[in-house]
Amino acid sequence: MKRMTLMHFLVEQQRADGPVDANLRLLLEIVSRACKAISIAIGKGALAGVLGGAGSENVQGEAQKKLDVISNEILLEANEWGGHLAALASEEMEHPHQIPNRYPRGEYLLVFDPLDGSSNIDVNVSVGTIFSVLRCPEGIAEPDESAFLQPGTRQVCAGYAVYGPATLLILTLGDGVHCFTLDREMGSFILTQSNLSIPADTKEFAINASNARFWEPPVSCYIDELIAGKDGPRGRDFKMRWVASMVADVHRILTRGGVFMYPRDRRDPTKPGKLRLMYEANPMAFIVEQAGGAATDGRRRILELQPEHLHQRVPVFLGSRNEVERVTRYHLEAGA
Ligand code: AHG
Ligand code: MN
Ligand code: MN
Repeated sequence: MKRMTLMHFLVEQQRADGPVDANLRLLLEIVSRACKAISIAIGKGALAGVLGGAGSENVQGEAQKKLDVISNEILLEANEWGGHLAALASEEMEHPHQIPNRYPRGEYLLVFDPLDGSSNIDVNVSVGTIFSVLRCPEGIAEPDESAFLQPGTRQVCAGYAVYGPATLLILTLGDGVHCFTLDREMGSFILTQSNLSIPADTKEFAINASNARFWEPPVSCYIDELIAGKDGPRGRDFKMRWVASMVADVHRILTRGGVFMYPRDRRDPTKPGKLRLMYEANPMAFIVEQAGGAATDGRRRILELQPEHLHQRVPVFLGSRNEVERVTRYHLEAGA
């Protein structure tokens, strides 16, 4: 098969009159280059002194790892100068980051989780970067938080990089999901799989079961049935997998199916779930739906939720369609 680089793929998309204009192409080339830089930093590990805590907390009160801070800076610096962005926002910054006055402003908004699963860094387990691209509403010169608060259906593009045994970049522009593998010698991302598809049925589920005592009844009921396996109402055995890096768990589901859950629970009533809508749930929901899967908050389609805050949390159920529909039905039937 002829090798197609990410750049070649984007040029073809532009020619085919897809949603890729020159600025979106520049954006994706820059984001992919930033992911390559993050991949290199992660790959050096202790040799570059990048492991361990940064000694600081982000706006969500979470201890930052050195690589959370480094990855955020890599993405910021890479994206400031190109003229393609109106503003950026990140898990690691309380407020949106404005484009410095010395650079032109563009029409896109970029929001990202610079390093997802960062608790896994120090144990050498896969981590990733998640990003979502929106259009800046017309007539806004200095986009503040409100410019970003658009439902996921308005995403122009979403993707993630997973830094595992291979570094991969997964991308959707609203026309299927495509997988690129980093060729480390050439330094370019090569298209290795087009139109990824999530099987509607699965025998694998992913949830942090140590939170079981805090779950709501529909989640407990659903998981009990999965665990009962052949002896229970489902009549077949299921396996459980939990990497604790959303990118790695979602990537497994994109590869061979499965259902991923981070439900709302009773640990802290001020937090409706753990994952963040704008830069974790929305981009992943867009990708999963584009691969034929489903994504809900247990009640509604994630992509249709109207965000109220940049760092808003949301319950997440995504992956193989039939399982997501079932656990959503359990919520709706319980009136939960
Ligand atoms: P982040 O490292 O960006 O804060 O995200 C971590 C998230 C997600 O990647 C993962 O699915 C989940 O937290 C793991 O949560 P547990 O610690 O409950 O396993
Ligand atoms: Mn994350
Ligand atoms: Mn993160």
